[in-house]
Amino acid sequence: MCGIMGYVGHRSALPILLDGLRRLEYRGYDSAGVAVLNDGHIEVRKTAGKLAQLTAITGTPELLSGTAGIGHTRWATHGLPTDANAHPHSDCDGHVVVIHNGIIENFLSLREDLQARGHTFRSDTDTEVIAHLIEEELQGPETRKHGNAEARPSGSLRITNHESRITMVPLEEAVRRALQHTRGAYAIVVLCSDQPDRIVAVRQISPLIIGLGEGETLLASDIPALLSYTRDVLIIEDGEMAVITARGATVQRLDGAAVAKEPMRITWDAEMAEKGGYPHFMLKEIHEQPRALQETMMGRLDVPRAPELDGVSYTSEFVRGLRKLWITACGTAYHAGLVGRWVIEHWAQIPVEPELASELRYRHPLIDPNAMAVAISQSGETADTLAAAREARKRGARLAAITNVVGSTLSREADDVLYVRAGPEIAVASSKAYITMLVALQMLALDLGLRRGAMAPARAAQIISALKALPGKAQEVLLREGEVESLAGRLADRDHMFFIGRGLDYAVAQEGSLKLKEISYLHSEALAAGELKHGTLALVTPGVPVFALVTQRHVYEKTLSNIQEVKARGGLVIAVAYDSDTEITKHAEVVLRIPDTDDDLAPVLSIIPLQLFAYYVARARGNDIDQPRNLAKSVTVE
Ligand code: G6P
Repeated sequence: MCGIMGYVGHRSALPILLDGLRRLEYRGYDSAGVAVLNDGHIEVRKTAGKLAQLTAITGTPELLSGTAGIGHTRWATHGLPTDANAHPHSDCDGHVVVIHNGIIENFLSLREDLQARGHTFRSDTDTEVIAHLIEEELQGPETRKHGNAEARPSGSLRITNHESRITMVPLEEAVRRALQHTRGAYAIVVLCSDQPDRIVAVRQISPLIIGLGEGETLLASDIPALLSYTRDVLIIEDGEMAVITARGATVQRLDGAAVAKEPMRITWDAEMAEKGGYPHFMLKEIHEQPRALQETMMGRLDVPRAPELDGVSYTSEFVRGLRKLWITACGTAYHAGLVGRWVIEHWAQIPVEPELASELRYRHPLIDPNAMAVAISQSGETADTLAAAREARKRGARLAAITNVVGSTLSREADDVLYVRAGPEIAVASSKAYITMLVALQMLALDLGLRRGAMAPARAAQIISALKALPGKAQEVLLREGEVESLAGRLADRDHMFFIGRGLDYAVAQEGSLKLKEISYLHSEALAAGELKHGTLALVTPGVPVFALVTQRHVYEKTLSNIQEVKARGGLVIAVAYDSDTEITKHAEVVLRIPDTDDDLAPVLSIIPLQLFAYYVARARGNDIDQPRNLAKSVTVE
C-alpha cells in the first residue's frame, strides 16, 4: 500500500523525505509527492511515476530550506495514477496538506457536501475530502474563504499564506473533529502552514510509526524508512493520534485521552525491516491476509443485504438476461476462478464456465452477447489473460475484471472493475491476492444472485455476516502456524504429495498443490477426491502424504470414503477440517484445524494452512522462497 514519510526538525526535510520514500519503494507505487513547509508557505510537488521523476522536480531552493515536510508514494485505490491524484492533497487555499494510506469509505457523500459548501476539488481521490474537512474545522464553515492556489506546470502547486488569517483551533483538534465525519481504514498525516511547528498523524488500521531523533522527529508507514535516522520508535495503534514536533511526540486517543508510550528499540537489519520483521515477503503477505480481507470488503458490505460494488456498473436488467458467465485467468487467479464458479452457480443460478486464459484464447469459444466474461488477474497485465478477455469482448460479451492493480491494462479495458485491494504483492507465489480474489468473487456472486432474485435476502444477510467474520477467523488460523511448521519439518524430505477434496475443497486442493510446487519444488498433484481411484491411487504407497480437505458437509461422507482408500494403501492422511469436526480424528493422522464457517466461504480459511505448509517446506529445503526458480510474478509474454 502507500508509503508515508514525515519529518520535523533542524535539517533540510526534503532529502530525508525522499530517502525514506526510497526505502519504502519495495511496497510498490505508481506516483509520489512531497510537501515542505518553508517560511509560512507550503510547497507541494507531486507526479505520476517513480521517485526519480519526483526528485527531478524538487531540487529548488524554496523546497530545500524547509525543515518540516511530508512525503508519500501512492498505490492507487480511488482514481487513476495521475499527477493530480498523487498525494499530498490540499484544502482550497493550500494551508492544509494531507497524505493518506487506506480508504475513506464515505468520501463520495462527504465530497458532495463539501462541494455544495463551496469547496473546490482538484483530484478524484478519497483523500482530498480530509483536507477540506480539516480546513472547515480550523476556521469554522462561516468564515470560509476562497482559494487562491495557483496551478503550475509539472504537477506543482504554490500555496500562499494569508497574513490576515487567524487560526484559533489547534491542528490536532481540527483533525480530530474532521475525522468524526469519516468512515474507513487509514493512516493520515497533516501539515498546516499556520501551525508550522507540528505534524499531526492518525492511525485507524493502516500502520504508522514515529521515529524519535535528536532534535528531530520522523514518522513513516513502515520501519525501514526510519532506520537511517533512529532506532527508537513509537508504534501508533488503531484509534491513536500523534502530534510530532522537533522536540518529540505526544500520543493521544482520538477521544482525547492521553496515551503513555514507551519507545521501542529496533534491532532488525535493513533487509528484515523491509519485510516487516519476517524473513520473507511471502510470510509477511500470508500474515497480511486478515487485514487485506478487511480492505476488500470495506465499504462494500455495509448495507445489510446487498453489496455495493464500486466500479461495477452493469444494470439489473442486464444481469437478469445473462445466460452464461465465462471466467478466465492463469495460475492462482484461475484457481480463485474455480471457487468463483461454485459460488456464482450456487448463489446466482447462472451457468459458469471457467477456462484457462491460454486455452480460451485459441478455443473459438461459443461466447455471445448474453454472456459476461470475468477476467481475474492480480497484476492485470498477464498476456494470456488480456488476450482471452479481448477475445471474449470481441465476441460480444461484457467484460468484468477482478484485479489488484488500479489502472492496469485489464482494468482499463474492462466494462466493470472490482479491485481486490490486497496491496502490493511482492512474493512470486501469490497468497493475499488469491484470498482477496475469493472474497471479491463471493461479493460478485452475491450481487448477481440478489439482482436475479436467485438468492433469498435472508440467505444473503447470513452470507454477509459470515463474510465479515472471515478476517478474525483468518487471524485465528495464523495463530496455529506452529503446528503447520512442525508438520512441514517432518515432511520436507518427501518427493511427492497429493491433495484431494470435493467441490470447493477440490478448488482449494489445486491451489494448495500449486503453492507447494512453486516454492518447495517437490512434486505434487491435486485431484477431485472421487477421481483418485481412477488412476492416481497407483502412486499412493506407504507413507506418501495425502492432504484431504473436508470442509464441504454435503459431500463429507463421500470424502471420508476416499480417505479410506488412501489409508488402505498406507498413505499418510493430513486433513484440513473445521474445529467442530470430531469425526475426522478417526480417519486422519494429522488434522490442521480452521474455525467453522459457511461451507461456501471455507476456501478463504482452508487455503491458509496449505500456504503456510508450502512456505515452511520450502524454507526447510533452503529454497529462494520469494523468487522461485523459473517463475515470474507477472508473465507478460504468451
Ligand atoms: C504468474 C505468477 C502466478 C500468477 C499468474 C497469474 O504465473 O507466477 O503467481 O498466479 O502469473 O498472474 P496474474 O497477475 O494474472 O494474477
